[in-house]
Amino acid sequence: MDAVRSLLFVGAALLLGATGARGREVCLGTDMKLALPSSLENHYETLRLLYTGCQVVHGNLEITHLHGNPDLSFLQGIVEVQGYVFVSHVSVSMVPLDNLRIIRGSQLYNSSYALAVMDNTLSGQGLRTLRLRSLTEILSGGVYIWGNPQLCFPDPQNIIWRDELNEKNFHERQYRLQPRASQCPPCYPACGKSCWGETAQDCQSYTSTNSHWGCQRCKGPLPNDCCHQQCAAGCTGPKDSDCLACHHFNDSGVCKDNCPLPTIYDPISFQLKPNPNRKFNFGATCVKTCPYNYLAMDMACTLNCPMANQEVIISHPDGSETQKCEKCDNCHKVCYGLGIDNLGIMDNHGITMVTSSNVDQFNKCKKIYGSLAFLPQSFARDHVTNTSALTLEQLNSFRNLEEITGYLYIDAWPEEWTDLSVFENLKVIRGRSLYK
Ligand SMILES: *[C@@H]1O[C@H](CO)[C@@H](O)[C@H](O)[C@H]1NC(C)=O
Ligand SMILES: *[C@@H]1O[C@H](CO)[C@@H](O)[C@H](O)[C@H]1NC(C)=O
Ligand SMILES: *[C@@H]1O[C@H](CO)[C@@H](O)[C@H](O)[C@H]1NC(C)=O
Repeated sequence: MDAVRSLLFVGAALLLGATGARGREVCLGTDMKLALPSSLENHYETLRLLYTGCQVVHGNLEITHLHGNPDLSFLQGIVEVQGYVFVSHVSVSMVPLDNLRIIRGSQLYNSSYALAVMDNTLSGQGLRTLRLRSLTEILSGGVYIWGNPQLCFPDPQNIIWRDELNEKNFHERQYRLQPRASQCPPCYPACGKSCWGETAQDCQSYTSTNSHWGCQRCKGPLPNDCCHQQCAAGCTGPKDSDCLACHHFNDSGVCKDNCPLPTIYDPISFQLKPNPNRKFNFGATCVKTCPYNYLAMDMACTLNCPMANQEVIISHPDGSETQKCEKCDNCHKVCYGLGIDNLGIMDNHGITMVTSSNVDQFNKCKKIYGSLAFLPQSFARDHVTNTSALTLEQLNSFRNLEEITGYLYIDAWPEEWTDLSVFENLKVIRGRSLYK
């Protein structure tokens, strides 16, 4: 069992996420939609671990399946979400996303929505306040707020969504907005009808519709209140270093179109030369080095190398390691795991399990790019497809395995095999994709 315990430990450590070099605390987010978590009892604890201290969610923020009225104050640090925000099947009365400024919508819920809040009522208790008091930008995707009979704040019909949505996004908008619950207190008087809660701090702040000067974002109604065009969400002044969020990339507080490139033009030699100040794109941030567990490519940090590239580990004199993707003409034969399609692209939705019909592809592999999962059906005969149950002999094909880049999930294991010794040579589970 010690092996199992240390594997679990690797997984738990990863939940704590990565820090962009000296930058803001980053976490991965999830891609579960309405799927039930692997353990409902621990689900709150898992969410708390995932998001405590997190400022930038690199994937989607999904708050689902929460009973009772647990404390969600650990969400208050979140400033940016790269994918979508999804709140569903929770009975908590308030979701305090107080500091969330921008939802980028790089992934959308149901291919349409950057913000989806649906069916939040369980045995009479339900979501009453979605306190998005800082939200002023949705770069891509629409808004879906439906099936929340207790929802008072925001009043979906009275928020000026046109101000939240990026100008380009607004024209392709997609909304489905329910009416407000019947017995709700009004907004604070100075807010008018558009607010995210009852207090004076909850007024919707406008950063585009009150500008008569044609600027994309502004901090007020005057001509010199315009934000720099690199700004998203709003600003405190006119410069590209005064933005509340960056439209594209944040290079040490300055918003830019691109991160500093790996090469620059040298006007003396008329040649490109390496740029000593080059940085990598990491989400919407520029970083000097890729964070822990990420691979450096030419311009960006990634979780898996593209085709015709291989992972290379570089050890530094100080004992640290960096990992990068390097082009190779004849790469060694690569073993893909279950989470990787045959183009080398990570595809968590295609994952099934190891069975007797696919186990041969792992034979003699030292490193598996992707994940492995063993479910009860792996060890049962399937009469529909006429596949036999996995045998211990077939499992011996994992004896050479030293590394998995995704996860190892063992939900079932035959009783008569009392250990996991077929994995006796496994040294590293990188956890670049995580089970649920
Ligand atoms: C840019 O990143 C720095 C550090 O990571 C952070 O302190 C700052 O608030 C960010 N600025 C914007 C506009 O996102
Ligand atoms: C999501 O998409 C499916 C199929 O396109 C549709 O049936 C369903 O109603 C959609 N759900 C929402 C919340 O829009
Ligand atoms: C199922 O597989 C077994 C051996 O693996 C074979 O003998 C049998 O004919 C197969 N049955 C069908 C219906 O294909």
